[in-house]
Amino acid sequence: MSTKTDTVAKKGYDVEEIRAQFPILKELVHGKPLVYFDNAATSQKPRRVIKAESAYYATINANVHRGVHTLSTKATEAQEAARETARAQINAKHAHEVIFTSGTTASINLAATSLGQLLLKKGDEVVISGMEHHSNIVPWQLACERHSAVLKVIPITDSGEWDLKQVPFSERTRILAISHVSNTLGTINPVKKLIAQAKKKGIVTVVDGAQAAPHLRIDVQDLGADLYAFSGHKAYGPTGTGVLYGREELLERMPPWQGGGEMIETVTLGKSTWAKLPFKFEAGTPHIAGIIGLGEAIRWMQDYDLGAMAAHERALLEYATKELLAIEGLRIIGTAKEKVGVISFVIDGVHHYDLGTLLDQQGIAVRTGHHCTQPLMDRFGVSGTTRASFACFNTIDEVDALVAGVTKGAKMLR
Ligand code: ALA
Repeated sequence: MSTKTDTVAKKGYDVEEIRAQFPILKELVHGKPLVYFDNAATSQKPRRVIKAESAYYATINANVHRGVHTLSTKATEAQEAARETARAQINAKHAHEVIFTSGTTASINLAATSLGQLLLKKGDEVVISGMEHHSNIVPWQLACERHSAVLKVIPITDSGEWDLKQVPFSERTRILAISHVSNTLGTINPVKKLIAQAKKKGIVTVVDGAQAAPHLRIDVQDLGADLYAFSGHKAYGPTGTGVLYGREELLERMPPWQGGGEMIETVTLGKSTWAKLPFKFEAGTPHIAGIIGLGEAIRWMQDYDLGAMAAHERALLEYATKELLAIEGLRIIGTAKEKVGVISFVIDGVHHYDLGTLLDQQGIAVRTGHHCTQPLMDRFGVSGTTRASFACFNTIDEVDALVAGVTKGAKMLR
C-alpha cells in the first residue's frame, strides 16, 4: 500500500522500507490486504525478531545460569545481552534493576504483591487513576484487601486527562500506581510531574508503561519512577515477555513474590535466603527465547529514529482524527492534547461489535469493547468503543481505508 500521501506523514520516513520487514503485512484477510490497527492490543513483529527467537531454539537452546556447558553459556550471554539492551532503552542505572517477567500484568502483580507486603498496613492508601487498565487496578485491589488498605482514585476530566486538582494524596498514601499512556484514550500522562509530587510525600511510585514503550523515549531516572513496567509484545517483541524496572535500593528491600529455582542463595528444609538482584525476582526457567526476541525488538527500534516514528504516528493520528470526525454522529472518547496514535470512538446508533465485525470483513483489524478499562467506560457513560491504534508501519492510505470502512459501516448499521 504505497503512497504519495505518506510524505505527509514524515518527509524522509520510509514507511515502505519498514513495512517490508513485517511478514504478516502481506497476509490477506477475507481476501483483502490486512490493515492492522490493533497495535495497542499487540503489535506486529519484524522478521528480525521472529528470526532471533527461532535461532535460539535452532542453535543455542539450553537453560540459563545453570550449566557450565557451551550452550548454556551462550544462552545465558544472549539473555543477559537482552537485559543490557533493555537497561539502555529505559536508561536504568544498572542492568540488575531490570527484572524479566511475562508481561506488564506480571510486572504489576509482582509490584503490588511485594510492595503490599513491604509497605501496606491497615488504613494505608494506594492511589491509582480512573483511566487505568484492569491490570493496574485489580492487583492493587487485591493488595489492599490483603492488607486492609484503601484504594483511592484520581478522577478523569472530560478530555480524558487526570484531574490534577483532585489527586487524593494524604498522609496515609504509600503507593502511587499510574499509567504513562492510556491504552484506551491514548492520553500521554504527566507522570514526571505527579511522581515529583509523590516523592515529596515519600510515596513509592509505580508506572504502567505498556503503551508508552512502543511510542515514547523512556528515561526512568529522569521520570523518577521507583518501578516501571512494560511488555515486549506491544513494542514489536514477542508475547510472554515483559520488564519490571526497579530502583536498586527499593528492589533490595522488596520481598520476592514467587519462590523456586534460581531466586535463592541457599535452601535448607527450614529456611531459604535470596539470590542477588535481579534473580531474587526471577523464579523458574524464564522465557529465554522470548527475552532474546525482546532484546532484538528493542535493538530493531533503536536502529530507527524513535522521534521520526513518533512524528509519523502523530501525523496518522491527526489525519485520522480529522477524517473520522467528519462522519455524522461519531464522537471521539479521549481528546487530550498529548496523545499517542490511539483513537477510540463511538457512533450514535451503532454498536461497536457490529462495526468491528464489518471492518474485519474488509480486512481491517480494530479492537472493540471496553479495552480492559471498564471504570473508564463508566466514566464516559459508554459500554465500549471502537479503537484504532497505530504503529510505525501504518500508512495514510490505511487510514483512508478505515475511514471508508467506518463510513460504510455506519450507514449500514444505523
Ligand atoms: N491492553 C491491551 C489493549 O489495550 C490488551 O488492547
